Amino acid sequence: MSGAHDLVAVRLHDGVDFDEWRQRARELLRAGVAPERVSWRCDADDDLFATTDVASLPTVAAGTTVPRDFLSLAERVLAHRDARRHALLYRLLWRLTHGEPQLLRIVTDDDVMRARAWEKSVRRDLHKMKAFVRFREVRYDDRASVFVAWFEPEHFIVERVAPFFVRRFAGMHWSILTPDRAAHWDGESLRFDAGASREQAPDGDALEALWRQYYTSIFNPARLKVKAMKSEMPMKYWKNLPEASLIPQLIREAQPRAQAMVQAAPTTPRKRMTTPAPPAQDVATADSLQQIRRQAQDCRQCELYRPATQTVFGEGPADAEIMLIGEQPGDHEDLAGRPFIGPAGRLLNQALEEIGLDRKQLYVTNTVKHFKFEPQGKFRLHKRASASEQGACRAWLEAELARVQPRRIVCLGGMAASAMFGSEFRLLQERGQWRTLAEGRQAFATVHPSYLLRLPDERDREQAYRHFVRDLSLLVQNR
Ligand code: URA
Repeated sequence: MSGAHDLVAVRLHDGVDFDEWRQRARELLRAGVAPERVSWRCDADDDLFATTDVASLPTVAAGTTVPRDFLSLAERVLAHRDARRHALLYRLLWRLTHGEPQLLRIVTDDDVMRARAWEKSVRRDLHKMKAFVRFREVRYDDRASVFVAWFEPEHFIVERVAPFFVRRFAGMHWSILTPDRAAHWDGESLRFDAGASREQAPDGDALEALWRQYYTSIFNPARLKVKAMKSEMPMKYWKNLPEASLIPQLIREAQPRAQAMVQAAPTTPRKRMTTPAPPAQDVATADSLQQIRRQAQDCRQCELYRPATQTVFGEGPADAEIMLIGEQPGDHEDLAGRPFIGPAGRLLNQALEEIGLDRKQLYVTNTVKHFKFEPQGKFRLHKRASASEQGACRAWLEAELARVQPRRIVCLGGMAASAMFGSEFRLLQERGQWRTLAEGRQAFATVHPSYLLRLPDERDREQAYRHFVRDLSLLVQNR
C-alpha cells in the first residue's frame, strides 16, 4: 500500500488512449494522490520502476464532475508528442477539482497556456494530415487495388484522424503508414497496428502523374503568394507530395502566365438555357421539393437569371432536421449548380466535420438562388444581391422551409439573418444565440464562411474561425 507521500508510478499501456488515461486519473483523484506524487509511464518507456496498481489505492475522496471543456481539451492534448502531457493534464484536473473550477478561463496560467498551445499544435497537425495525405495505388495480382499513403505527423494523431479518411474514402481499401502507427481500412472495418517505415510505402505511379497534372491545371498564377503557400503547405510535407516537385517551376512561370491570362480574351461562362419565361408559378401549391426545384430553374422574378448559368437551388434530404441558409451562390456554385461547393463551402464542410456533423444530413441552401456578378476581364466578380432581388427570391426559400420543415436553422451571414429575423437583426451582437421562429423552429445566425476567408491576418482568421465553429457547435449541444 502507498503512503501519503510515496511516489505513485502509473503505467499506461497506450499513451494516447484517452479512456485509459481518464480511468487512471479518476482512480488517482479518488485516492487523493496529488499530481507531484505521480510519475506517468507508458509501456514503451523501458524502465525498471515498479508500478502501482492504482485501482487498488484506498478511496479518500468522492468522485467529482469535470467541466466538459476540460475533456475535449484533454482529448487533444493527449495526442501531443511531449512525454509530459499526462502529468500536465492530471495537474489541470487536480486543480480544477481542488478549488480552481474556473482555471481554464485563466489564459495566463502556465499550465493552461501550455495545454492550449499543445492543443493548437495537435489541431494544426490534424488539419495538415487531412490535407496532405496522398494515396498511391498498389495492385496485388488480380485482386482489387489497395491505396497506400506514407505520412509523418508531428503528433500521435493517427487514431483521431482515421475516421475522417474512412468517411472520405469509404469505398476504397487503404492503409496509412506512419512511423508511430498504421491505419488500415478494408471497406468494412478500421484496424490499427504498429508503425512502419518509409520503404514500406510505394513510390510513384500513374495516380501520381494524374495528381501532378491536376495540380498544374488548378494552380492559379494570378493568386500566387509564396509566403502564404509555404505556411499553408509547410516545406516539411513537400517530400511526400507528388505535386511539390512542380512548385518551383510553377513559381518561376507564375508571372508570365499571369500576364498572359490578363491579356487573353475574356471567356464567357457557359450560357444558360434560354427557355421562354414560364407562366406564373404558384409555388405554394407545388407538392414536392423536386417539383419546386424544377420550377425554380425557370424563375424570372428578377433580372439575375439573365447572366447566370443556372438557378442554384438548395440540396440535402427533404426531411432534414437542420437547414443551413447562406447568402447567394458564387462563381463555382453557378457553374456546378450546387450550393456551397467553392472555397467558402470547403471551410463550412471543415467546420461541420470538426463538430461531428455530416453535411449530407443537412439541407443547405441560399437566400438568393442566382449568382450576381460583374464581369472584369476574364473574371466574374461577386456582387451582393439588392434588397429587391432578395425579396424576389423569398418565395423559393419559403417553399423550401415549408417542404423540409427543419427543426433547427442556421443563418450564415447578414443576408440570411435578415431574411429570417428581420432587418433589425445585428449579426455581430446577436450571433450564436438561439431564437424561436414561427412553428416553434429554433434558429441562430453566425458569420458567413467567406467573411473568414477574407480576413487578411492569419491569427485573426484562426480566431474568427474558432468562434464560427463554437457558434455551429450549438447544433450538437443538448437542446
Ligand atoms: N456563399 C453563399 O452564401 N452560398 C454559396 O452557395 C456559396 C458561397
